[in-house]
Amino acid sequence: MTALRIGHGYDVHRLAEGRKLILGGVELPFEKGLLGHSDADVLLHAVMDALLGAAGLGDIGGHFPDTDEAYRGISSMLLLRHTMEKLREEGYAVVNVDATVIAQAPKIAPYLEQMRRNIAGVLDVPLRQVNIKGTTEEKLGFTGSGAGIAAHAVCLIEKVS
Ligand code: CDP
Ligand code: ZN
Repeated sequence: MTALRIGHGYDVHRLAEGRKLILGGVELPFEKGLLGHSDADVLLHAVMDALLGAAGLGDIGGHFPDTDEAYRGISSMLLLRHTMEKLREEGYAVVNVDATVIAQAPKIAPYLEQMRRNIAGVLDVPLRQVNIKGTTEEKLGFTGSGAGIAAHAVCLIEKVS
């Protein structure tokens, strides 16, 4: 019997001046960036929470505490690699990931392909098994006003060993 597990992740970061905007491991040209202890890559944080959730391993806050100086300014791509090591130790492989970035601006469509490549590379799956979408909330709420960016992710993982 194939043992499949589903996971869900959600994250939000505030937009602030003087920060780089990094989404899915890609630096986007924009006048603001996301605020956070790490590089604040909200998309990768949602993906990591989905993966950890599916494996029953809690969340990124538990594995990479934002009170730990070791994680200050750290690339979330590195945290994603650590997350995948934890899943592999538990005998899991990724089936697929689907994620949505909610941002009024900037337009992320031109960068989606690179984000998918970055994530699929670490997850060790073909590009088609990592899907990322962008949407606005029609100028409503905190994403609509440009105060922050949110991301949702779901994933499926399977026990392979
Ligand atoms: O309702 P829908 O999501 O189609 O409309 P929208 O929020 O106005 O977004 C239109 C399209 O722009 C989306 O389908 C995305 O492909 C793209 N988009 C984007 O590239 N970057 C964003 N931050 C938001 C939307
Ligand atoms: Zn985060």
